[in-house]
Amino acid sequence: MPGDSTKSVHEAEPFDEQTGSLVAPIYETSTFGFSRAEDVPTAVANSGVKGYTYSRWDNPTVVRLEKKLAAFERGGAGAAFASGMAAITTSIFASLKKGTHVLAIRDLYGGTYGFLHDILPGLGFSTDLVDTTDFGSLERGVRKNTGIVYIESPTNPTLKLVDIERSARLAHSNGALLMVDNTFASPINQNPIELGADVVLHSATKYLNGHADLIAGAAVASSEMIHKIKMTRREFGGTLDPLPAWLILRGMKTMAIRVRQQNANAMVLAEFLSTHRRVAAVHYPGLRAHPQHQLAKKQMKGFGGMLSFEVKGTTKDAMKFTESLEVATLAASLGGVETLVSQPYNMTHTQMSAKERADTGIPETLVRVSVGIEDADDLVDDFKRALAGL
Ligand SMILES: Cc1ncc(COP(=O)(O)O)c(C=O)c1O
Repeated sequence: MPGDSTKSVHEAEPFDEQTGSLVAPIYETSTFGFSRAEDVPTAVANSGVKGYTYSRWDNPTVVRLEKKLAAFERGGAGAAFASGMAAITTSIFASLKKGTHVLAIRDLYGGTYGFLHDILPGLGFSTDLVDTTDFGSLERGVRKNTGIVYIESPTNPTLKLVDIERSARLAHSNGALLMVDNTFASPINQNPIELGADVVLHSATKYLNGHADLIAGAAVASSEMIHKIKMTRREFGGTLDPLPAWLILRGMKTMAIRVRQQNANAMVLAEFLSTHRRVAAVHYPGLRAHPQHQLAKKQMKGFGGMLSFEVKGTTKDAMKFTESLEVATLAASLGGVETLVSQPYNMTHTQMSAKERADTGIPETLVRVSVGIEDADDLVDDFKRALAGL
């Protein structure tokens, strides 16, 4: 089997049959024409002349991306969405039946947290968000009607890990599906389907695209499951447009080298921060001191480009630190080539109450870092200078 760098460049990249174009064409069209009325497919089957009818259903550029996504996440098929949240909400809705209970960890991306904590219960679905680090609370949370177990690993922004293999066994023993948001790890560092997950989800805005210039999402699962998800996507309407799909195809060509550089830079930065007197704690699964370092070694191929740390001092100190950086930028989002820092307490996790943030380990002094591909020495110097100014 080819390696990740070879796959990044060549997977789902045949040259164009009609013209020989080396690079995928962008089929920027809303609809597809037919010469014979009898070829026009019905609403349930995509059986037109070339298999395409309307770009909310399927589009050749988007399908090409979906093949690449499926190859990277080792699933039967993929579905691309207009955002990570569209991928997450559509995939969950595709698997809900009347009375389904959804069991999830508490440390979730803010949007997913809001969807599971507020929106689904408002529609009559029961959900439970349990302690992330105690696997027993996930085991105790399973009910007869649990149909979906939903996890992220590593978590945002606390970099806690959840045992994916164990979660899959737990879900399957109850006839439930395991859904894993793999955004933080990227497919280069972790493949949840190989560990037993049924649906892998991504904010493709992040490492898949890698250039902070678009919003997109992805789901990968068995072909049967993706068919169900795509049928739901047709009705909910969150299909990805061909132009951003093409940009992600381009971005993915460098995904393996980008992510390897990000892994290496994050390790250097985490080690530097661990020894700094103005830093109270560093959360990075690659550090031996991380409480789940052994699990990281078991289920991850690389430790990732995301880390967080607690500044010793007050909220103001953390704010001053983030404002003083010159190489890194204070901004939400992650996974791009540039290093970004954010303060989850008041930027990305405001859906949680102050108590929920405290229970989840998100103090006001927590700084999340999405490590980019700059030179590691420049990043260390930048962080050193900003910390010295406190
Ligand atoms: C882990 C994780 N999942 C999902 C999302 C949502 O993705 P999007 O912003 O592309 O909708 C994000 C966004 O930051 C995220 O960090």
